[in-house]
Formats: sequence, structure tokens, C-alpha cells
Amino acid sequence: MRTTPRGLDRLIVEFDRGLRALAGTASATREIPGSGLSEAKLQEKQRRHAAGLMRVNHTGEICAQALYSGQLLTARNDATRRVLEIAGEEEAEHLAWTAARVESLGEHVSVFNPLFYAGAFIIGAISGAVGDRWSLGFLVETERQVEAHLDGHLRSLPAKDQKSRAVVERMKQDEARHASSAAKHGAAELPGPLKRVMKLAARAMTFTTYRI
Ligand SMILES: [Fe+2]
Ligand SMILES: [Fe+2]
Repeated sequence: MRTTPRGLDRLIVEFDRGLRALAGTASATREIPGSGLSEAKLQEKQRRHAAGLMRVNHTGEICAQALYSGQLLTARNDATRRVLEIAGEEEAEHLAWTAARVESLGEHVSVFNPLFYAGAFIIGAISGAVGDRWSLGFLVETERQVEAHLDGHLRSLPAKDQKSRAVVERMKQDEARHASSAAKHGAAELPGPLKRVMKLAARAMTFTTYRI
């Protein structure tokens, strides 16, 4: 890591981003999807399930903030930084939307978020340091996996919970756009074993944060 003034400035900016993500002060400029819909009357089991899924999605967005932040810290060229910054702004909105849904469903976000943030930040910084093509490739694969995972949530969320579904639908569209924009900027295709490790890490995250 460089410690030139520019590098140090970046470190401070990224540190600040992390504190804001974990403190839950990320703000959304786009209105939360489904804001015009009314809150469904869910049975207790359905409510807990929906809250669990939205807590998983919130931690996913915490990880997205951390990954992008780590990648921005070590990205080399300005075009890559721009892709990361644009996607990162939308991820901050996703973070605010999912936090709002967890709260509306009467639960708290995961207590493990600081741990996941730290882990994802380190992974992001390493992938950025390896080189921009690989960093973008990592982004594409992450977004594709997230998109598939959100599809699973759309099958699993209670049909009545239209507010959560609206948030997940919009996030899915955004994640697909993040992947295609990174692909257009010269992302490398990640090796299969690395993709499988990423899936395993995501599974460990979803297993724990669905519950706590
Ligand atoms: Fe997202
Ligand atoms: Fe994304």
C-alpha cells in the first residue's frame, strides 16, 4: 500500500466509508422501491423468514461496500475507479433500503457485520492490488453470484411481502448492471476454483446472518 499523501487521503476516505456503513448512516438518494405499497400482515413464521432473508441481504450489502472500498483503495486506473464508484453509490442505497426493511420487519441487522466488513475489505484490497482486470473480474463474478442469490430470495420471500420483494427486484436489476459495466471495462474471467471458494464464503455468510 502506498503512503503518499494521495494514498493516505484514500485510506481516510475509505475508513470513513466503513464507519458510515457500519453505523447505518448510509443514505439513499433514490426512493426505497415499493414505498407506495402497504406493509403486509405476515404470520410470525413468515415475518421471521422475511426478516432473516433481508438481514442476509443487508450483510451482503455491507460486504459490497467493503469490497468496493478495498478495491478503490488499490485500483490503478481512473476508468476502473469510476466503475467502482458508480456501483458503490448504488450499493450504499441498497444498504439503506435493506436496513429499512429489516427494521420494518421488526428485527436488527446482523451483529457480525463488523467482522464481515473487515474480511471483505481485505479481500477487496487484495483483488485490487493484483490488478484492475482481475479486480473487475472479481466484481463481475460477485455480482453474478449476488444476482443468482437474489433470484433465490424472490422464490423464497412470502408472496404477500411485496415491499421486500420490490427492494430485492430493484437490487437484482442494479447488480446485473454493475456486472455488465465491469465486463465492458475489460474484466478477466476468474478461475473456476476461485469462483467455488467465493460461493462457499457466501454460503457461510448467509447461514450465520439469516439467524443472527
Ligand atoms: Fe447491492
Ligand atoms: Fe452490485
